[in-house]
Amino acid sequence: MTAWNDALSWLALMLTFHQACCTALTTDRTDKIDVHSHYVPPFWRNESIMTGHGQPDGMPGIPDWSEEAHLELMRQANISKSILSITSPGTYLIPGDYLHARRLSRRCNEFAADLKRRRPESFGFWASLPLPDVQGSLDELVYALDNLDADGVVVFTNSHGVYLGDDILEPVFRELDRRNATVFVHPTSPCIRGDDGSLRPAAPLPQYSNPLFEFFFDTARAVINLFLSGTIGDLHNVTYIVSHAGGALPPTIERFTQFATSINITSDIVKEAFVRQFYFDLAGFAFPDQIYGLLRYVGAGRLLYGSDYPFTSATRVLSIAETINEDIGKAFPDPLDQRNIINGNAQRMLARG
Ligand SMILES: *[C@@H]1O[C@H](CO)[C@@H](O)[C@H](O)[C@H]1NC(C)=O
Ligand SMILES: *[C@@H]1O[C@H](CO)[C@@H](O)[C@H](O)[C@H]1NC(C)=O
Ligand SMILES: *[C@@H]1O[C@H](CO)[C@@H](O)[C@H](O)[C@H]1NC(C)=O
Ligand SMILES: *[C@@H]1O[C@H](CO)[C@@H](O)[C@H](O)[C@H]1NC(C)=O
Ligand SMILES: *[C@@H]1O[C@H](CO)[C@@H](O)[C@H](O)[C@H]1NC(C)=O
Repeated sequence: MTAWNDALSWLALMLTFHQACCTALTTDRTDKIDVHSHYVPPFWRNESIMTGHGQPDGMPGIPDWSEEAHLELMRQANISKSILSITSPGTYLIPGDYLHARRLSRRCNEFAADLKRRRPESFGFWASLPLPDVQGSLDELVYALDNLDADGVVVFTNSHGVYLGDDILEPVFRELDRRNATVFVHPTSPCIRGDDGSLRPAAPLPQYSNPLFEFFFDTARAVINLFLSGTIGDLHNVTYIVSHAGGALPPTIERFTQFATSINITSDIVKEAFVRQFYFDLAGFAFPDQIYGLLRYVGAGRLLYGSDYPFTSATRVLSIAETINEDIGKAFPDPLDQRNIINGNAQRMLARG
């Protein structure tokens, strides 16, 4: 009788344990941290339209956004925290007008800081910088990190043709390094320099908007330049988040490391840098297929969830989230890996800052 009772208690205990374990897993799995989502303050929308960016990068328009709508999307998609940023074309909207870029960056950062102050559980932000204005960017990053409690900064793959890794940006990256800052790398339209030195946005197939695929190429271009310029090799304290699972970067790694003659670099050095100071977000359509190319170079510990809301519509964000729920187990059978991708990696990364 006692033995029978013991057996029953043991069974009950095991069931409780099993429930506790698996309930916890399910809860955690839906408790996403979104490192790639955007806020659209009314004045930034207005300034974008006024300066000719009403159809940014060839898109039909700037989507609607409000704090309430963002919170509602988070609730529906099981996102507990969103790290917000201003998207392409950023805050440098009028070529040559650095003062305008400085003011707009500050205004966007104050707006995001207010969201974070009021809802610290729900919102964080990557601060905007008026790049390629070096002094303005130094001033703004110091102010945003010290006074506004920014979680890091957002930079674009190029700022009116000045690519990440460009020598002129060195003082900015040195300061980010000194502060162990996190740098969210977001794509924008490529920009090319004509023979006369003038810069213009490139659209080799102008019938397609740049986010369709040019964004992926610009991401590859910028990260390759960060490596070949020696920026990564010199500054190990900066943590980079690369958008869209690296875009077109993964298949270029063997190529640029084998062909590079100006710098001593191998694909193993790139892999070491990825493990040391890189994360890749899953915004877009990383599942079910795209992710596998990147997984030759990084493991689950370097991946972060991203929604790209509202530039990816709420409906799409929800259907992509369901695809992730269905397919993440195929690429990552270990539930611990899944949890790290959905929130654990982001939690540790944000806590570091
Ligand atoms: C939009 O910009 C115009 C021109 O600079 C200005 O008059 C107007 O007040 C702005 N509206 C908002 C909402 O910022
Ligand atoms: C959100 O969580 C609920 C409850 O676990 C689940 O039924 C739903 O599918 C999840 N939605 C998404 C988009 O992950
Ligand atoms: C940066 O991180 C290193 C450890 O990796 C630490 O020793 C240093 O104090 C940090 N610096 C700042 C400014 O937080
Ligand atoms: C990283 O930061 C530390 C102090 O925070 C500094 O001493 C070091 O030079 C920085 N750079 C590298 C590459 O570690
Ligand atoms: C290149 O880097 C590797 C690994 O850091 C090192 O072993 C090798 O000596 C370097 N070669 C040259 C020519 O600097």
